[in-house]
Amino acid sequence: MKRRLAQLTIAFAAVVAGPAALADSGPLFSYDPPLTPELRTLLHKASVEAGAQVFERKCATCHDGAKDGKPSKGPNLWNVFGRKAAFSPSFKYSAAMHKSGHTWTYSTLDYYLSDTERAVPGKAMDLAGLRSAKMRADLLAYLRTLNDTPPALP
Ligand code: HEC
Repeated sequence: MKRRLAQLTIAFAAVVAGPAALADSGPLFSYDPPLTPELRTLLHKASVEAGAQVFERKCATCHDGAKDGKPSKGPNLWNVFGRKAAFSPSFKYSAAMHKSGHTWTYSTLDYYLSDTERAVPGKAMDLAGLRSAKMRADLLAYLRTLNDTPPALP
């Protein structure tokens, strides 16, 4: 609880400090959104097939999800679960993504994909976000399969 409070305080301070904080080097903040009961329930009901279709429609123009796939407009997303943000060696990320401090988990990915600018202010990904929580959960159920060792459902 204390730790969560400290993280929230840091995130809040970063928001208040605004662009000045963005100019600093090092991680801006590592806000770690909680895994809500709603997200957990949606993930357990999620459809991998529906998620694959969302990926095709909304992500595939910029992302390759294949193992040993190539970076295109966006980084390759194989093994994205569990990896730190901006950690694909073959892709040149924005400074904002480098500084975001996120590690990609169910909750951070959901947070990012719901509102990309809020989660990573100044990011280079040209997609505002997906409004539907169900759509995001289906997508996460699919993204977890793009992994050498798919993470367990929370
Ligand atoms: C218009 C192109 C575009 C679309 C569409 C797009 N992305 Fe991205 N994505 C990017 C770019 C560019 C980056 C790198 C952003 C940066 O460096 O700030 C990125 C970064 C990411 C990252 C962080 C990866 C890492 O290695 O840290 C994730 C996760 C991600 N995208 C998932 C998705 C998903 C899921 C979708 C579909 C809902 C999607 N993106 C749609 C271009 C796109």
